Amino acid sequence: MRLERTSFAKRLSVYRDSISLPGQPVVEGRLLRMVGLTLEAEGLRAALGSRCLVINDDSYHPVQVEAEVMGFSNGKIFLMPVGSLAGIAPGARVVPLPDTGRLPMGRSMLGRVLDGTGRALDGKGGMKAEDWVPMDGPTINPLKRNPISEPLNVGIRSINGLLTVGRGQRLGLFAGTGVGKSVLLGMMTRFTDADIIVVGLIGERGREVKEFIDEILGEEGLTRSVVVASPADDAPLMRLRAAMYCTRIAEYFRDKGLNVLLLMDSLTRFAQAQREIALAIGEPPATKGYPPSVFARLPKLVERAGNAEQGGGSITAFYTVLSEGDDQQDPIADAARGVLDGHIVLSRRLAEEGHYPAIDIEASISRVMPQVVSADHLKHSQRFKQLWSRYQQSRDLISVGAYVPGGDADTDLAIARMPSMVRYLRQGLHESESLEQSSALLAATVTGGAA
Ligand SMILES: Nc1ncnc2c1ncn2[C@@H]1O[C@H](COP(=O)(O)OP(=O)(O)OP(=O)(O)O)[C@@H](O)[C@H]1O
Ligand SMILES: [Mg+2]
Repeated sequence: MRLERTSFAKRLSVYRDSISLPGQPVVEGRLLRMVGLTLEAEGLRAALGSRCLVINDDSYHPVQVEAEVMGFSNGKIFLMPVGSLAGIAPGARVVPLPDTGRLPMGRSMLGRVLDGTGRALDGKGGMKAEDWVPMDGPTINPLKRNPISEPLNVGIRSINGLLTVGRGQRLGLFAGTGVGKSVLLGMMTRFTDADIIVVGLIGERGREVKEFIDEILGEEGLTRSVVVASPADDAPLMRLRAAMYCTRIAEYFRDKGLNVLLLMDSLTRFAQAQREIALAIGEPPATKGYPPSVFARLPKLVERAGNAEQGGGSITAFYTVLSEGDDQQDPIADAARGVLDGHIVLSRRLAEEGHYPAIDIEASISRVMPQVVSADHLKHSQRFKQLWSRYQQSRDLISVGAYVPGGDADTDLAIARMPSMVRYLRQGLHESESLEQSSALLAATVTGGAA
């Protein structure tokens, strides 16, 4: 089946047939008013979360916009549009749709760039869908999930060595603006050992979407990826849908037994879209302008990643979270830290020094690392972090020449190892390093055997 816009009248008649009881007409409502982003309709009955079409067909150019039921009060229904409302007038028809919608899926999505509803954004024509799946994925019994027991090679030496990622782990990539999140995600799409990569570009600038696809992902990255993009100027509901769609795509391939890497840039923008919606339908703000439903949505989204039940595939996920290093109070960063199994923090200071990837190894942690690496590897990584921290503590003294060698054995060793440690952490954009190489070089670096 091809994803094409069927004629307006035909679609409507299909919907009518499927929602009306035999011999009974569909009960349509009318649009009463619009407040901010919210539409108010009356005269129809529609359940929370169900979809409606808002139709203005009494002009020369009939307009229809899909909207979702977000709330109700005193016989009125509140809806939130998925697209632009241009052309919608008071009194427009509001027609309930039969179900919560289905999303197109299939292998032909690889190499494609789609919007939050599965429509092609890349001008390569309609996508051939093998399956149409409901928006909500299957729930996995937490006790039946495969435990995280295998390391995953992401191709980045410092992550493989010091913050080893487990297959099925969910990590946050915490950083301020312009410190290299997108570049690091791009490297991971090219280097990670995964069958399929799903990239969600949620709420970022439109220009960045193109840049990410053309320059950072490149042909090589795109051929085994599916990109779902919903830039900042999309309706907030569309941004939410895009985040859920890319998670759903990852689930679809995981349930086919594949190992999926899901990269979402950014979780903060997802939370902000939910904030816009919640505030618009009248939910009171709680923490720094974020209503409580935002904090309920985050774990719901993130929990969908992870391993499948025995014998199934996996979703290893990276979510970027905007946070200026010193702002530990940001409620989204705080909530994300709580629901993820680890965080990689990028440091502006390192980026300014040209130290890329600018991973702050002292502030970062992979909570599953002890379960997926050998005892020796773990020991070497702890030693590396100790020496690195020891150097940072005396950094100012050392740089002005006030540190007297011999004062502290560990500091002396840290100074001696520093050049090879820095070499270990830095990595070129087109350089990929396997788990074995990363582990071996880590051992050599801390024991002094590295060149
Ligand atoms: N590994 C790297 N090697 C060299 N330069 C890099 C590297 N990573 C990032 N940069 C530089 O930093 C700039 C910003 O990187 P990037 O776009 O990835 O940041 P970002 O955190 O995604 O920013 P934003 O918050 O705007 O999305 C890049 O344009 C590039 O100049
Ligand atoms: Mg970016």
